[in-house]
Amino acid sequence: MLRATGLTRTVGGAALLAQVSFHVARAEVLAVLGPSGAGKSTLLRLLNRLDEPTAGTVELAGQDYHTIPLRELRRRVGMVMQRAYLFPGSVSQNIAFGPAQHGSTLLQPEIDALLEQVGLRDYNERLVHTLSGGEAQRIAIARALANQPEVLLLDEPTSALDEVSKLAIEELLESIIHQRHLTCIWVTHDWQQAIRMADKALFLEAGRQTQFGSAKELLHA
Ligand SMILES: Nc1ncnc2c1ncn2[C@@H]1O[C@H](COP(=O)(O)OP(=O)(O)O)[C@@H](O)[C@H]1O
Ligand SMILES: [Mg+2]
Repeated sequence: MLRATGLTRTVGGAALLAQVSFHVARAEVLAVLGPSGAGKSTLLRLLNRLDEPTAGTVELAGQDYHTIPLRELRRRVGMVMQRAYLFPGSVSQNIAFGPAQHGSTLLQPEIDALLEQVGLRDYNERLVHTLSGGEAQRIAIARALANQPEVLLLDEPTSALDEVSKLAIEELLESIIHQRHLTCIWVTHDWQQAIRMADKALFLEAGRQTQFGSAKELLHA
């Protein structure tokens, strides 16, 4: 589904990321692990072209991603960050925003179905500033799913949550991945989470890839 080859990003002579190569199949989860500052977020930003690689490229379903219009790429490769960046307003406005940007209108039953899927029925009119951290993260996931992505990039999506919310979000993502055959690239510093969620693992250190392979083998799961 997604294959990175020699992905590199150099800024002002410094290599933030050098020669990263991996592949992940449909419905697989790749965990990206490494110390703070290793380049994990940098890698995710290259995967939907929030930043441009200075060398190397990415194939999405066999197609070089530079040949895919940026809007289409961003629709097909969704992103969920550590904190939900919701804009002020209601939950349904936040969910409908992405598709509207891509020229399609989400119907109320579709919004309801997304809310149902993330376990927040009847949250339509809730104002986002009244949500808990875990609820906001569920809305961020619903918003990402509204675009019908093929790949979801997750940048430490549970690291700002308490233990109970963390496990609930894991369970939610697990069911969504299964149901939608979604491919995920999941940055985490939580080894146990990687064991629970991942099929493959990629280790970064100082912008370099130290290991890539089966999660079972690399994480001794
Ligand atoms: N736009 C940028 N310009 C220069 N340096 C950057 C930029 N973005 C990130 N960095 C640096 O790149 C390194 C990797 O950052 P990051 O990808 O955020 O690491 P991680 O997510 O693994 O903690 C850090 O040293 C960071 O300071
Ligand atoms: Mg980061």
